[in-house]
Amino acid sequence: MLLHIPQVLSKAQVAALRAELAAHAWVDGVQTSGAQAASLKQNLQFPPDSPAFAGLAQCVADALARHPLFVSAVLPRQMLPPMFNCYQGGGRYGNHVDNALQRDRFSGDQVRTDVSTTVFLSEPDEYDGGELIVEDTYGEHEIKLEAGDAIIYPATSLHRVEPVTRGARIASFLWTQSRVRDAWQRKMLFDLDMTILKLRHDLGDSEEVVSLTGTYHNLLRQWAD
Ligand code: NI
Repeated sequence: MLLHIPQVLSKAQVAALRAELAAHAWVDGVQTSGAQAASLKQNLQFPPDSPAFAGLAQCVADALARHPLFVSAVLPRQMLPPMFNCYQGGGRYGNHVDNALQRDRFSGDQVRTDVSTTVFLSEPDEYDGGELIVEDTYGEHEIKLEAGDAIIYPATSLHRVEPVTRGARIASFLWTQSRVRDAWQRKMLFDLDMTILKLRHDLGDSEEVVSLTGTYHNLLRQWAD
């Protein structure tokens, strides 16, 4: 499931993050990827060993963890620290699938990457190109969102970032291990949760709404680990 999550960060939060990101030197993105990715990836990455990194990453992680749509759709068990990248001057990232396991640089934990998230930090009119293209069974989806908005997609998806031919595309990205490993089960839980919310809004806590809510929790009990 691809899901657009609007306004994860306010414009003021985006501006503050951008100012802090611009105040430090960035490194070649190849330094933070494996051998295969190195031949596909042309971008800059904010160095995770920078003293500023932890605070910036926490700001993005907190905003996502507080967002009800993110929580419902991802059912996060463990989020890896958000990282930051910049594509400019023709920079791109060719088709790839993200590594299945990533080490959390702070806790040392191995985290299974179930859900990928990109939070856009540049406005669409600041750059040309730079679309995130995600392939699924329905074809290719082209994503370019307002600054502060996020997209989530299954980390199992083949995806790429198109070359940026003008300006700079700055974004934050991260992986999350979900409490529900299977993407289809996560989608069904999300659809049920959204439907219950709407029914509760329309009907209040009717007997049927309470019953459906019980079903949601019992499914979660079946599938969560
Ligand atoms: Ni990727």
